[in-house]
Amino acid sequence: MPVIETEGLTKYYGKSRGIESLDLAVNGGEIFGFLGPNGAGKTTTIRTLLGLINPTSGRATVFGLDIVSDSVAIRGRTGYIPGDTNFYPKMTGAETLAYFAAFRPKTPPVMRDDLVRRFDLDLSKRCKDYSRGNRQKLAIVLALMHDPDLLVLDEPTLGLDPIMQKEFYDLLNDFRHRGKTVLLSSHILSDVDKTCERVGIIKAGRLVAVENVSELESKKVHHISAMFSDSFEVREFSLPGVTVIRHNEHSLELKAKGEIDPVIKALAAHKIVDLDFEHASLEEVFLEFYGEAGE
Ligand SMILES: Nc1ncnc2c1ncn2[C@@H]1O[C@H](COP(=O)(O)OP(=O)(O)OP(=O)(O)O)[C@@H](O)[C@H]1O
Ligand SMILES: [Mg+2]
Repeated sequence: MPVIETEGLTKYYGKSRGIESLDLAVNGGEIFGFLGPNGAGKTTTIRTLLGLINPTSGRATVFGLDIVSDSVAIRGRTGYIPGDTNFYPKMTGAETLAYFAAFRPKTPPVMRDDLVRRFDLDLSKRCKDYSRGNRQKLAIVLALMHDPDLLVLDEPTLGLDPIMQKEFYDLLNDFRHRGKTVLLSSHILSDVDKTCERVGIIKAGRLVAVENVSELESKKVHHISAMFSDSFEVREFSLPGVTVIRHNEHSLELKAKGEIDPVIKALAAHKIVDLDFEHASLEEVFLEFYGEAGE
């Protein structure tokens, strides 16, 4: 049975669209990526699932419990990282953890010390003095310290440096291996593709696709800029999925869709002075693949 299941879930803020007719199923023991550009409806979905806002229509269950009538029970088994963390500015990190732990007397914060160590978080500082990244670490410890059955994470790595991001994704993997479930929202594809097996793509309030990450890999778009010390012929880059955007005698800018290996081999036939290699934004992947479906 899915841990999260929604049926025609819809939320309007007055006349303004939040999400529309969302049918989503997240299975127990999976890390499900929830991807979409700004304003797509990720936060709205998450807040509705946790009973923080009420749906306009449709229904959903978490652990088989109704999100409207059983939201307290759902939140008791769920760790939540909100997109915008707000702590009491004068409390220290330690006080903040103790304050929130007091709301859950039945589930002790068994993972607290381990998490604090893993993220190298100084608990003696006041919240107002934490940097953006350190506030995010505090939010992570808060969400995970009770070792909940489900994690609902709204852009959880915002502000974390690359080492801490890796630590965080390792942690999610451990969590999953212990049979727990994760809903992970992000607007960055490369954030979720290493961690999730499946992703749901939301655009303008609607779920436009649910894909296995391996399928999405083949839809990846890369931007490559190269500078050569020798000259080259543009036709060397007439490869499947490759569009040359700009070129002159020594430089080349191109967009490559799908398989990247032939492009790298073509580049490597020359002496490279400089190379920029970027994943296209999710928005570009959307435009390439879901442009019509999402309009
Ligand atoms: N409190 C609100 N009142 C009115 N409209 C809102 C409110 N919250 C969200 N919306 C609207 O609902 C839509 C979905 O917003 P939501 O915050 O869920 O998107 P998101 O996918 O989380 O975006 P982001 O990536 O920017 O966090 C947007 O059009 C937004 O303007
Ligand atoms: Mg959001």
